[in-house]
Amino acid sequence: MTIIANKCPDYKVTVVDISEEKINAWNSDKLPIFEPGLKERVLSARGKNLFFSTEIDRCIDEADIIFVSVNTPTKTFGEGAGKAVDLQFIEQTARRIKENSKSNKIVVEKSTLPVRAAETLKTILHSGNNSVQFEVLSNPEFMAEGTGISDMEDPDRILIGSMDTPSGIAARDILMDIYLHWVPGERLITTNLWSSEISKLVANAFLAQRVSSINSIASLCEVTEADVTEVSRAIGMDSRIGSRFLNAGPGFGGSCFRKDILNLVYLCEHYQLNEVAAFWEQVVSINDYQMERYVRRILQAMFNTLTGKKLAVFGFAFKPDTGDTRDAPAIYICKRLLDEKACLKITDPYALDNARKDLQGAEGKVDFIEDPCQAAEGAHGIALITEWSLYKQLDYQKIFDTMEKPAFIFDGRNHLDHQALYEIGFNVYPVGKPALTHL
Ligand code: UGA
Repeated sequence: MTIIANKCPDYKVTVVDISEEKINAWNSDKLPIFEPGLKERVLSARGKNLFFSTEIDRCIDEADIIFVSVNTPTKTFGEGAGKAVDLQFIEQTARRIKENSKSNKIVVEKSTLPVRAAETLKTILHSGNNSVQFEVLSNPEFMAEGTGISDMEDPDRILIGSMDTPSGIAARDILMDIYLHWVPGERLITTNLWSSEISKLVANAFLAQRVSSINSIASLCEVTEADVTEVSRAIGMDSRIGSRFLNAGPGFGGSCFRKDILNLVYLCEHYQLNEVAAFWEQVVSINDYQMERYVRRILQAMFNTLTGKKLAVFGFAFKPDTGDTRDAPAIYICKRLLDEKACLKITDPYALDNARKDLQGAEGKVDFIEDPCQAAEGAHGIALITEWSLYKQLDYQKIFDTMEKPAFIFDGRNHLDHQALYEIGFNVYPVGKPALTHL
């Protein structure tokens, strides 16, 4: 919404939320999320054509277009628990829009939703005897965290799904006008509603599938002395395959991949496409396997016991340039290391507050330390889980000197210079390549 406000001075954008705390933060100097480049852009539009408010009912009434961007978490209870999407927030929002609308509106699905959710939205919006007309569009978001600004300002594509009716097409054109303020026309794709809804899930499923595919090959590389980075380069130069999203790691995280794939699996099961469901579910299984494999590699390398050993954990966010830790592999990995009775010293430039919350209640000894060198002091090993660029710039000779020997480093992202670390004296365990050890 900030980018829309920046690019479209002729529109007034108001972001509403039921959380007063969040709205207050959006109106303050300390925004509630960290995203590179966002703060400057919020500040340049806030108070001019970008507003943050808790006056939801009034803002619904005043709006011509409403972007529904509420969370759609995985259901944790009842039918479909663990896979299906919990639609309660979408339904509550639809009812609130219906109750507070006195003029016709375009309602845009921004949240990631199961296919055919627009049908439910329309049914709720048009129920009762309100004469107001609602046109529902699907306009899924493809930006990724950490690169949100460039993804929005220079998107690969904008997808808009609508009904193939005169009013559906008119609404679609109104939404297209907004994006045409800065996105070249050829990057705007229009489809029917259901294709648009399904494309969002499928895009994330394909991206996650690439990560699981390369992670599965990483395990084969480790036992055959192949090098997964070389394999990624060799296959990625085939233009049919492409080079991006082929970095092996400790497993994918984030609020979307697991949730969206499980939603796709649930939909396939619902339509009794059991083979298709099993195919996509395997992407998640390989991810679980990859996180567990990372822990086992640490355990095996460190003589099959971690009891009382100190491990510095470098990075907790699910990826660099964000403080977001939702479904971060670090959560699973740290809990497992604590099960093995390791003592953890966790460091991350932006995610320590979230890390504290994520590990609340986990049994064992955990410290949260801002300075990575301090976190590594006296440690038996370093587990690098998030590839923050600052971890490349550290003085590893100095770090090595302060650590217990033999000193181990488990580079879960193949982020560091392994040969240099080995020459310093570290026993180095990358992902998907043979270890370099002095043992
Ligand atoms: C993802 C998609 O990339 C966005 O297009 C989409 O809009 C977004 O979900 C969403 O649905 O909201 P995001 O979750 O922010 O974006 O992060 P990604 O960059 O996709 O990374 C996801 C995870 O995969 C991270 O843990 C990352 O470390 C991991 N990853 C990614 C790898 O392990 N290897 C790779 O080569 C790429």
